[in-house]
Amino acid sequence: MITSSAPGKIFLFGEHAVVYGKTAIACAIDLRAHVTVEEAPTVQMKGPGGSVDLNPRKHPYIYSVVEKFKGFTDVTGVNIDIHSDIPVGSGLGSSAAVTIATIKALDAYYGTNLTLEDIAHMGHQVESEVQGRASPTDTFVSTFGGMVQIPDRKKLGFYDMLIVIGNTGKFSSTRKIVSNVAALKERHPIVIGQIMDTISAISETGIEFIQEGDFHTVGELMNINQGLLDSIGVGSKELSELVYASRKAGALGSKITGAGGGGCMIALCEHKNLSRVAHAIKRAGGDSFICRTSHVGVRIE
Ligand code: PMV
Repeated sequence: MITSSAPGKIFLFGEHAVVYGKTAIACAIDLRAHVTVEEAPTVQMKGPGGSVDLNPRKHPYIYSVVEKFKGFTDVTGVNIDIHSDIPVGSGLGSSAAVTIATIKALDAYYGTNLTLEDIAHMGHQVESEVQGRASPTDTFVSTFGGMVQIPDRKKLGFYDMLIVIGNTGKFSSTRKIVSNVAALKERHPIVIGQIMDTISAISETGIEFIQEGDFHTVGELMNINQGLLDSIGVGSKELSELVYASRKAGALGSKITGAGGGGCMIALCEHKNLSRVAHAIKRAGGDSFICRTSHVGVRIE
């Protein structure tokens, strides 16, 4: 029996701007997906009511991973069991974490010796096939862990940061929101272009202050980034309520993470304010999770 795990991710800065080649900072968090594989008569998934044969409609990510393995190794029967701490469909990279952890578990099980680069690459192919369009950020961060500057995928040093995630529980389609922003940019190329440039400058300045450990300034930059995300139309009433509630409860800064429109926000906190901020987010109607940034990428447990 083999168990692997892989982390979810947040955007500290720069989502949407990165679509236009500008700088963003993504970071792994200590919420993880765990995948256990063990010998079985067929390739099957463990579910609440027992194990069922792998089904491309019900388990598209795992099915696609197994099809990829069939391309280079002899896939014998295996039971795949998934447990994830990462809320699904909320921009925290849950599908990437499940995909990457499954690749690592099967790699160890079949002894195929994939490198981390191979794993990240296969994970991105799987996400692209299943979702139509997928950014390589989630699979890259989930594989390597730590803090990553994108689009150049430069690994930055690791800095321990305390974060409260607020989940609005509202599903939002990244594809739709990205296309709304593109339409807005087409109508106002100079205005939106300059906003993207400013978001990029925030990411670059943010890296410096993270490296100095000046989290008060990092929080201030997150708040500026949030204002600009609102200005390009990716905010929502629910997200704003969680953002302002967290600030009022003492967060150093807070913003949307990911595409926006719904999904999650993050609040950077000092230790003394963590539970106050988490409660404030709950009172404002969100689900909240206390977590921290993590340098741990995919690994065998
Ligand atoms: O919500 P997520 O985690 O899918 O993030 C989307 C981030 C965008 O910058 C809006 C799109 C992208 O591909 O980077």
